[in-house]
Amino acid sequence: MMKAARINQCGGLDVLEYGDFPFPEVGPFDVLVKVMATSVSGWDIKYRNGDLFAKFENKGLPGRAAFPLPQQLGREATGEVVEVGEHVRAFSAGDRVLGLVHPENPSDLNAVRGLGNLSVGIDYPGHAMKGGNAQYVSRPEHYWMKLPDNVSYEAAAAGSWSYPTSHRIVVDRCNVRPGDVVFVTGASGGMGYATLEWARLSGASVITTSRSEKKRQALYELGADLVVDPANITSALEQILQFTRGQGVEHSIEFTGNPDLLDLSFSALRLGGTICPVGGDVQRGPLPWSIMDLVSKEMNVVGIRGSRLNDQRVFLEALSRGLIKPQIACELPLREIREAHRLVENHEVLGKVILKPWL
Ligand SMILES: NC(=O)c1ccc[n+]([C@@H]2O[C@H](COP(=O)([O-])OP(=O)(O)OC[C@H]3O[C@@H](n4cnc5c(N)ncnc54)[C@H](OP(=O)(O)O)[C@@H]3O)[C@@H](O)[C@H]2O)c1
Repeated sequence: MMKAARINQCGGLDVLEYGDFPFPEVGPFDVLVKVMATSVSGWDIKYRNGDLFAKFENKGLPGRAAFPLPQQLGREATGEVVEVGEHVRAFSAGDRVLGLVHPENPSDLNAVRGLGNLSVGIDYPGHAMKGGNAQYVSRPEHYWMKLPDNVSYEAAAAGSWSYPTSHRIVVDRCNVRPGDVVFVTGASGGMGYATLEWARLSGASVITTSRSEKKRQALYELGADLVVDPANITSALEQILQFTRGQGVEHSIEFTGNPDLLDLSFSALRLGGTICPVGGDVQRGPLPWSIMDLVSKEMNVVGIRGSRLNDQRVFLEALSRGLIKPQIACELPLREIREAHRLVENHEVLGKVILKPWL
């Protein structure tokens, strides 16, 4: 048996159960990992409270399996290999590894075309297969990547979901260039902060939002060029236009799903700009722009669905070279899973809540 945290049904914090569960099986192509760090993400919250089941009518993402219950949550996991199946070639006991948040199916046509994030026939950890909230996890060989020696388990787990995905947004989908101005909503969250870091590394200036005065101050200290309060949209737009000398921003990347912020992301966009609505509160309603809006600004709208293998490699390399620094709000023992969900769900922290299964 091993310690793990699981849910049997969707609901409030009390559906999270920490206890003893069967040790995972290790098949001939599997790598068994002793988990040293895992975390709570926005996805975990939506899974737990049932938003995802409503959003996807429990059909899973297109081309993927439905979301199962019971589930062991935790998109991110890092740890040490303790056993490998007889056909595993790339790993051996003692290797330090990162669990890929977006593993690819190497034989799917989308992966061959360089769009492995869209490959089908693969289950993501914490989506349709068990996530990292456990002392041990067993997954196929192509679900893991070796950790550079100088990268800590905690830093890699903290950034492994948000940094690769936001790397794809900034570098690939938006093609941010030096001198651009990027408007990122909600940079106190994992995704928004990672976007801020990649945008700055690309040579851009970054404007962001926060509803909290304390977090606005912290975001300035973490490198934001301008932080606006979304409680006053008129003033926020004025500040953005003043910052960009009336031109507007080249890119708006929207993480909250708040209709006012979607509107602001559009109003703040310069002619020919690009807007990327990423996620936020689950809303199936229409986006607040008309065809005439698209025409008059000649704006580009881009979608995003996860990251490719290469984004995940770039994340580890940038981490190893000290170019990025995922924010860690606190580290808690896995048995405090309910408190960890509470902190993330209430947006009480800036940075990731890391869970340690062996504390
Ligand atoms: N499409 C994809 O491939 C993909 C991949 C990963 C994540 N996502 C999505 O990206 C989103 C961001 O992820 P995250 O983990 O960084 O989210 P998060 O921590 O839940 O939210 C980010 C920040 O946005 C602000 N915020 C949240 N709701 C708001 C609202 N209604 N109005 C104004 N501000 C609000 C909060 O900042 P303040 O409290 O400071 O205002 C919060 O800290 C999530 O919805 C996630 O599901 C999508």
